[in-house]
Amino acid sequence: MPKSLRTFIKTPSAMMRMARNVAKVLPAGTSIGLIGELGAGKTTFVKGFASAFKIEKDAVTSPTFTIINEYRGSVSVFHADLYRISSDDELIRTGIYDLATDKGFLLIEWPEKFKSLANYLDLFLIFSIKRDGRLVVLKGKKEFLIEIENSKNFKRGKKIWL
Ligand SMILES: Nc1ncnc2c1ncn2[C@@H]1O[C@H](COP(=O)(O)OP(=O)(O)O)[C@@H](O)[C@H]1O
Ligand SMILES: [Mg+2]
Repeated sequence: MPKSLRTFIKTPSAMMRMARNVAKVLPAGTSIGLIGELGAGKTTFVKGFASAFKIEKDAVTSPTFTIINEYRGSVSVFHADLYRISSDDELIRTGIYDLATDKGFLLIEWPEKFKSLANYLDLFLIFSIKRDGRLVVLKGKKEFLIEIENSKNFKRGKKIWL
């Protein structure tokens, strides 16, 4: 039983492929936290994730100012960026807890700023910038990690996505 999965991603397009692969094995209603410094690949991940639901990658833009974007594809993908939010009150006012995500997905950049979000997330991904790519560690619900590990593009043993 995996406690976490890790994969090394060399290019932005490989990040998008990995994200699409993850999206395809998760049930609608899943909430995902994306943790990592600026430029780590969080928004690139959302572009790939959304593409699994027929959302154009150009429709996915960083919600730094809008705070929450909704992309409507075969399901809705809600994309939040909490970089500019600083208090729990402000967080509640964004409406993030009121989103009807049962038929869609919620992906949140900078969730680690708020302890209160920890129980709300099913999965989180930690991105780190390395010289020749991005290291991505996935943690969260065991059943989701198992689905991801068993998905077709995940190479057992090597722990690397194609
Ligand atoms: N392996 C990689 N995976 C994802 N992005 C990468 C990778 N290598 C280089 N990049 C670049 O890093 C930047 C990531 O930006 P973005 O996805 O907006 O990050 P964040 O949302 O974490 O700030 C992009 O300019 C992208 O082209
Ligand atoms: Mg971003």
